[in-house]
Amino acid sequence: MTYENLLLTYENNILLVTFNREKALNALNTRTMQELNYLFAEDLPTRKDLKGIVLTGAGDRAFVAGADIKEFLDLDNKGQNMAQYGQDTFFLIERFPKPVIAAVNGFALGGGCELAMACHLRVAGEKARFGQPEVNLGIIPGYGGTQRLTQLIGKSKALEFCMTADMIDAPEAYRLGLVNYVVPAGEEVNRAKSLIEKIGTKGPIAIAKVIESINAYFEDGVDGFAYEIKAFGETTNTADFREGASAFVEKRAAEFKGE
Ligand code: COA
Repeated sequence: MTYENLLLTYENNILLVTFNREKALNALNTRTMQELNYLFAEDLPTRKDLKGIVLTGAGDRAFVAGADIKEFLDLDNKGQNMAQYGQDTFFLIERFPKPVIAAVNGFALGGGCELAMACHLRVAGEKARFGQPEVNLGIIPGYGGTQRLTQLIGKSKALEFCMTADMIDAPEAYRLGLVNYVVPAGEEVNRAKSLIEKIGTKGPIAIAKVIESINAYFEDGVDGFAYEIKAFGETTNTADFREGASAFVEKRAAEFKGE
C-alpha cells in the first residue's frame, strides 16, 4: 500500500507518523484508517530496529479533528462496520509491542481523542484541545472512546465529557490524567521522541510484556494477575534479563538485544 494521508519519517529508529490532511484538520477518512491499519498490521511488524512510534498532526491547528464528517452523509447501515474497523485498528496500536506516543499538537476531537487514547502515552502541546463531540451530531463515540475515557479518567468525568461534548484544554487534560505531559507548543514531537529514547534503553521484551500485562487488566475474561505471573516468568528466561542483572552487579550499562 502507498501512503497518501500518512506522512512517514523514519529517523534514529523512531517512526514519526504525521496525519497529513491539514485542510480537513487531519480528519480520519476511510483511506486514512486503511493506511493506519496497514501500517500497524503489516508494515511496522517487519521493521526490526524500530524503537517506537510517534503520532502527530500536520500543521499547528489539529492533531486529528475526528472521523471525517463529510463521509458520514453516506453512512446508513454501515455504522457498525465502521466502528468495528476503527476499533480493530486502534487495538493494533494499543497492543503494539513497542511504545506508541501521541504528540497532540492541537484539536484531538472525536476519533482524534480516541486515537490519542489508544496510544500508550500522550504528550500534549499547550494548544491541544480534547473532546468527544459526537453527541452534537446525534451519535456516540465508536472507536473505543466510551471505554478508554472511562479507563483513563473515570466514569464520572467520562460521562460528563461524552454527554456535554465540551472541549478541555491541555492543563485540564493533564489534571484529569488524560495526558502524561504538557509541553510548549511545537515541542510535542521532541518530547515524545525523547520518551521513546528513554524506553529504548530498557529491555525490549520487558517493555512488550509491560504493555501486554497492563492491557490484560482491561481484557474481558483475563485474570491480569495471572497474566503478570506468566509474563514475569517469561522475562526471567531471557538473555536480556541475564544481561540486565549482570550489568547491575558489574556496575555498567546493560546492553539489551531483545533476546
Ligand atoms: N471531518 C471533516 N472535515 C472537518 C472535520 C471533520 N471531523 N473537522 C474539521 N473539518 C474541516 C472543516 O469542514 C473545514 O473544511 P472547509 O474549509 O472545507 O469547510 C476545515 O476542516 C476547517 O474547519 P473549521 O470548522 O472551518 O475550523 P474552525 O476553527 O471554525 O473549527 C473545529 C475547528 C475543530 C472546532 C471544528 O472544525 C469542528 O467542530 N470540527 C468537527 C469536530 C467533530 O465533531 N469531530 C468528531 C466527529 S465524529
